[in-house]
Amino acid sequence: MTNSAPLNIALIGFGTVGSGVARILDTQAAAIASRAGREIRIRRVVVRDASKPRPFLPAGVNVTTDIAEVVNDPDIQLVAQLVGGVDPAYGYMKQFLAAGKDIVTANKALIYTHGAELFQLAAEQGRTIGFEAAVAGGIPIISAVTQALTGNRILSLEAILNGTSNFILTRMLDDKHSYGDVLKEAQALGYAEADPAMDVDGTDAAQKLVILTRLAFSTSVALNDFVRQGIDNLELLDLQVADDLGYKIKLLATARLNDGRLELSVQPTLIRKDRAIAQTSGANNIVAVEGDAVGMVTFSGAGAGQLPTASAVMADLIDYATGRTAVTFQSILRSAQQPSLPIQSPDELTRRYYLRLNVDDRPHVLADITDVLGRNEISISSVRQDETPEDRADGDARLVIMTHRTNEGRFRAADAELEKLACLRGTSIRLPVAE
Ligand SMILES: NC(=O)c1ccc[n+]([C@@H]2O[C@H](COP(=O)([O-])OP(=O)(O)OC[C@H]3O[C@@H](n4cnc5c(N)ncnc54)[C@H](OP(=O)(O)O)[C@@H]3O)[C@@H](O)[C@H]2O)c1
Repeated sequence: MTNSAPLNIALIGFGTVGSGVARILDTQAAAIASRAGREIRIRRVVVRDASKPRPFLPAGVNVTTDIAEVVNDPDIQLVAQLVGGVDPAYGYMKQFLAAGKDIVTANKALIYTHGAELFQLAAEQGRTIGFEAAVAGGIPIISAVTQALTGNRILSLEAILNGTSNFILTRMLDDKHSYGDVLKEAQALGYAEADPAMDVDGTDAAQKLVILTRLAFSTSVALNDFVRQGIDNLELLDLQVADDLGYKIKLLATARLNDGRLELSVQPTLIRKDRAIAQTSGANNIVAVEGDAVGMVTFSGAGAGQLPTASAVMADLIDYATGRTAVTFQSILRSAQQPSLPIQSPDELTRRYYLRLNVDDRPHVLADITDVLGRNEISISSVRQDETPEDRADGDARLVIMTHRTNEGRFRAADAELEKLACLRGTSIRLPVAE
């Protein structure tokens, strides 16, 4: 134990993450005080409904619905902001900073949307913001990029950052279920939100990639700067064909230095099965970072959940108590002042592609399609069409084409022509193949 004065904190939100923080503090108090150099004491909790029972809280903690009680409490130095969504969390953050309080948060949406402004505000007030839990839950990727790997020029970042999508892709292939059926299961198990749109359309992963790109490459990007594609149009057949060919399909977020420019994308991607990213299953996350000095380092584990996310929040609380946050936060602010890297145009992305087309099961279809690809200088490496099952409701054939390396721009031109072909039915899928 230690003789230093306790660190008084407030928890804003006591749901999955907030209760996890209280649980760790309740069960590990002495060890945490020893690591932090002082006791970390929850003094107030702000929630929507103060009448609900709140486990793991020490006796005497004030539970309220009024954030003014935290704003106006001079004994609270640090606020753990664990309410989701942008509003009202954004307004709360500004009030806490204006009142001279430091902040720790797990709120990715907030850091993505208002991070730059809030960091600036914190800097002006001489305050700090810790946000380890905002990206990849329990995986300490923020501290890796802002502390442990700062001796490197980061060359690339490849990651699975959305557990819901990864859970769905894993279960589709393992259980031979359709996308729709597994999505329902994910919702029933609590892995997917009632409205899962941002998870499955790639937005959540893209927002996390934007946060990591700011830190790893000192470059601010907007979602529209790069290709973003979700998993919602994938069929079980895509996963099975990829599997036969030696690949897993994963929702891959990539940021890579390419001739001094930054190449970014979030897309379902075919990844060779022997790679750790391909082997990341269920709701887990993984981040592979390549530094010019260290080479490739890989972090994987739980990207969400009560205790994994609380683990990341606790690390921020302890860093604050020891004074480490102040040092790291200054370094993050200085890094944000570095000149941004130019962003590569999405049309220049150059990879091999997997193309699955739903087509009429009749002669000349293949010739029509290969003609379009050929005229757009897209070279085919293999073509596959399995027999159409008698019981397939739509009666269409599924044609899978693997291409040699080509670029996104050529394919976008070809897409426009393919769409006009009378033989095409429904939604086609085009996915990159990772090197
Ligand atoms: N859950 C995860 O695995 C995970 C992982 C990484 C990051 N995060 C992020 O962590 C944050 C919290 O997530 P969570 O899963 O813990 O959420 P949650 O379980 O829904 O809990 C939210 C908490 O916030 C309180 N709250 C909601 N609106 C409020 C308001 N206007 N004023 C005061 N309190 C309010 C709720 O109060 P009541 O209890 O009274 O309803 C509840 O205690 C989110 O930003 C989320 O994206 C979560």
